[in-house]
Amino acid sequence: MNTLEGKVAIITGGASGIGEATARLFAKHGARAVVIADIQDEIGKNMSASIGTHCCTYIHCDVSDEAQVKSLVDRTVKKYGQLDIMFSNAGIASKSDQTVVDLDVDQFDRLFAINVRGMALCLKHSARCMIEKKVKGVIICTASVLARKGVLRHTDYCMSKHAVVGLMKSATKQLGPHGIRVNVVSPFAVATPLMCKVHEKEAAEVEKIYEQMSSLKDVVLKAEDIAEAVLFLAGRESRFITGIDMAIDGGFEV
Ligand SMILES: NC(=O)c1ccc[n+]([C@@H]2O[C@H](COP(=O)([O-])OP(=O)(O)OC[C@H]3O[C@@H](n4cnc5c(N)ncnc54)[C@H](O)[C@@H]3O)[C@@H](O)[C@H]2O)c1
Repeated sequence: MNTLEGKVAIITGGASGIGEATARLFAKHGARAVVIADIQDEIGKNMSASIGTHCCTYIHCDVSDEAQVKSLVDRTVKKYGQLDIMFSNAGIASKSDQTVVDLDVDQFDRLFAINVRGMALCLKHSARCMIEKKVKGVIICTASVLARKGVLRHTDYCMSKHAVVGLMKSATKQLGPHGIRVNVVSPFAVATPLMCKVHEKEAAEVEKIYEQMSSLKDVVLKAEDIAEAVLFLAGRESRFITGIDMAIDGGFEV
């Protein structure tokens, strides 16, 4: 249970869904500190209190704002002395269909500001900090199974997740010489608040929609399954793994 003993981690989008499940798992596996960064302050604070103030803190951070991301990293290091793990996970979904011919560019820009610019800023400032402190850290980003495919709707979202993979691959090459590992997790559909909002349905109904699409039957993907993959990529067990896009998709891709 002590895979992450002594480690300090930041989890963006940590107040809900995949980020929340990962924060809880990191704490369970001995992380010295888990910093939850999100814009849902009330939920984030309550969640951090439920994990325990001895190892968990909530910091408000809009990942699309560079000053806030820099401050997130600075405050983490000031409080805990270092940063070992950045789980850059915050993201949003398209609000409407967003087909190529009907692309709403304002919405496109809003989504890219979080899903792409935000991801790049989290990598930039966590990597700078790790290099400066000579920490052989780990950076994990959340992409999606849609980072490998084209889509009929949600073009902006699909594009944003392809961009995350490009960012990870470039960062892998640039940060490898510093001993910093960079990987991506690409989940299939999980019935988190993000997905429930997209479908305007309850979690159980969302799970039913996607059940038929994975090759693996009788297993429903949960946020905790993604958290387990992130834990593996964050821990010593994956110490020679960098530059991969790990699908957690029940064989959807095959
Ligand atoms: N749920 C799925 O099916 C699925 C599948 C593939 C990829 N993903 C990706 O997983 C990640 C997590 O999503 P989730 O499903 O857990 O959704 P979620 O909505 O439950 O959690 C996302 C969190 O990100 C936070 N957030 C949104 N904008 C932010 C910003 N500007 N700054 C900081 N935090 C912000 C939200 O407040 C929320 O707490 C996202 O990147 C999403 O694209 C989700």
